[in-house]
Amino acid sequence: MIRGKFIALEGGEGTGKSTQSRLLAAALKERGIDVVVTREPGGTPGAEAIRNLLLAPPGAGWGPRAEALLFAAARSDHVEKIILPALEAGKWVICDRFLDSSRAYQGGAGGVGDEAVLTLHGIGSKGLRPDLTLLVQVPAAKVAARLAERDGDISDAIGGRDASYHAEVAASFARFAEQEPDHFAVIDGDSGPEEVHQHIMTALRPLLDGEP
Ligand code: TMP
Repeated sequence: MIRGKFIALEGGEGTGKSTQSRLLAAALKERGIDVVVTREPGGTPGAEAIRNLLLAPPGAGWGPRAEALLFAAARSDHVEKIILPALEAGKWVICDRFLDSSRAYQGGAGGVGDEAVLTLHGIGSKGLRPDLTLLVQVPAAKVAARLAERDGDISDAIGGRDASYHAEVAASFARFAEQEPDHFAVIDGDSGPEEVHQHIMTALRPLLDGEP
């Protein structure tokens, strides 16, 4: 059976992942590849409902462990209903955030630990990993300016955490990419969308070899 390829885009807030997901999908479609674009948390009605619980939490909000469980539950539904069926149908899946966000935000910055997050992923999603994770990196000062322009004072429960939390998220992502070079391609996101897109297409060359 021909299985499609699974590409995740990762990085902190305001690094341009959503724009890059769209540009990548368009480029793949132009090559005749059947593509599904999706995002986390979300992608199914159930996972979108969990997204709302996570980003606009009722009451005092979630502790880091409850948060990790909710992300894992949303991901489980998304993997079972959207990602795996698409891959099994030979489609490529582009996912704006996936497991490595849980590893960086809940596991690293939240203190839940990498092993616990990976264990939850094993239970929820049978340990499914992307064929390639594109880690888009932009310097923190640049991101702050972009977010101020995009969101003003409005941010969600996780995006609105303090700078030290987000610095730990960025450091965790960088550590994973360094420790697992076969899983990650680090993308310099500190330029215009078209230039960043070209970096991404270069990183994807090995996966595109043999495709139409
Ligand atoms: P988004 O705004 O990029 O869609 O992501 C929503 C927020 O959720 C963002 O602050 C990152 C956070 N997040 C986690 O903390 N853990 C996860 O596993 C995922 C997928 C997102």
